[in-house]
Amino acid sequence: MSAERTIRIFDTTLRDGEQSPGASMNLAEKLEVAQALADLNVDIMEAGFPIASPGDFEAVQEIARVIHGPTIAGLCRCNDADIDRAWDALKLADRPRLHVFLATSAIHRQFKLKMDKDEIVARAVAGVKRAAGYCDDIEFSPEDAARTEPDFLCQVVEAAIAAGATTVNIPDTVGYATPEHMGKVIRTLVERVPNIDKAVISMHCHNDLGLAVANSLAGVQAGAGQIECTINGIGERAGNAALEEVVMALRTRKDFYGVDTRVKTERLVPTSRLVANITGIQVQRNKAIVGRNAFAHEAGIHQDGMLKERSTYEIMRPEDVGFAKTDLVLGKHSGRAALADRARALGYRLSGEQLQTVFEQFKVLADKKKEIYDGDIAALIEQQIHEIADVWSFVSYEIVCGTGHTPKVRLTLRRGNEERTETMECGDGPVDVAFLAVEKITGLSVVCRRFQVQSVTVGKDAQGEVTVEVEYNGQTYKGRGVSTDSIEASVKAFLNAMNRIAVYRDAPAPIKAQA
Ligand code: KIV
Ligand code: ZN
Repeated sequence: MSAERTIRIFDTTLRDGEQSPGASMNLAEKLEVAQALADLNVDIMEAGFPIASPGDFEAVQEIARVIHGPTIAGLCRCNDADIDRAWDALKLADRPRLHVFLATSAIHRQFKLKMDKDEIVARAVAGVKRAAGYCDDIEFSPEDAARTEPDFLCQVVEAAIAAGATTVNIPDTVGYATPEHMGKVIRTLVERVPNIDKAVISMHCHNDLGLAVANSLAGVQAGAGQIECTINGIGERAGNAALEEVVMALRTRKDFYGVDTRVKTERLVPTSRLVANITGIQVQRNKAIVGRNAFAHEAGIHQDGMLKERSTYEIMRPEDVGFAKTDLVLGKHSGRAALADRARALGYRLSGEQLQTVFEQFKVLADKKKEIYDGDIAALIEQQIHEIADVWSFVSYEIVCGTGHTPKVRLTLRRGNEERTETMECGDGPVDVAFLAVEKITGLSVVCRRFQVQSVTVGKDAQGEVTVEVEYNGQTYKGRGVSTDSIEASVKAFLNAMNRIAVYRDAPAPIKAQA
């Protein structure tokens, strides 16, 4: 295995990742993630599944038009309509890739497709040929490859390459494989498919048994040259292989794998935060690489070792994955230049106007909180960059509540120049009555499906970050709010979701692709 081998990173956050329950993104959010993936220097990004919905088509088309650098892929089933539609969306990309998939396992052939082996091969060949008539970069995925009979998998892969596939992706669609199994599948293809050298072998592993990253790495050891993965490992069910884990495993254990990637690893944490904030799927504290505790040393013995020699307990440097070197940063007397500097160090690019707004919020926060941590600054900035054009904005609230008393709220919201105040006495508690007042003022009635509060940093005066998910007319909308006052953060999050409803309720619902 050559020490020079570079593994291609194919990010599918915007396609398989977006298929996570509750992770749908709107066009502006997808463009923001796409730009972050380009800044991260992924080789390929799968922008969506164009035939799934007009919204998916538009997103792929827009990403293809405005994002430069990585190859832009679009997913299509193995039929003419899907392939033509995907090409229509992709054709403006600097480097387009058509990704055609067709299930090959016995279970899928018999129960889903009702096709025999010959029909599958013929359909795969026809699909790849049609796609190859549009562009040179064609990826073919035999869906559920890990559960496909090895002989038949070799036959389909050989036929797809002969028809023009330049990448053959080997999905473990249902997360059934183990590293030894996946390594064997790839070795079998390398040894038995005569034209395998004409294509790059790719790994696409789901995480149902928690083995997606391990299975992807086993594939690389056996000869795969591409890994498909998502930021924070989001995706169908238990998700896909986490990009940050795959990349850092290959980098940290270059001695073992003898390969590397082109990913700018110092962009991993900012990209992870961006995806977590946009999708509302927060990363657990002990998540490898990007979790808040990934580099925190608590045990005395570990701290002592770290102070003597960092490598005693640290296999990667936090700054290499994008955690800032210092954490305690700014205070009340810090100026705009210091804030701009810190924002840059944390990986954010702010316009002058955005910096001014964040600076004003920073000053308000500094009056309430003595020490401002990186997490506080990141929360203020993210609130600013993901702010939806405010239909309604928060002005003030007062709540009276206590054990055995019905809570009472007086809430004021603003819309344009008009302020509206609602007073209510009802509900189960302070958050409930405040949400009811928001519904009354906005005229929107929703079902709250998820309500999550977490502290942005540490200490009693830490800012609280609230994420909510509400359902309106069968669609889910997310909202996020930050404040040192957790009720205020809750109202802001709820209002943020209501504003999203007001802005996006007329957009057609996306259709989810298969896993
Ligand atoms: O998991 C899977 O099989 C997929 C294919 C569409 C590549 O996502
Ligand atoms: Zn998948």
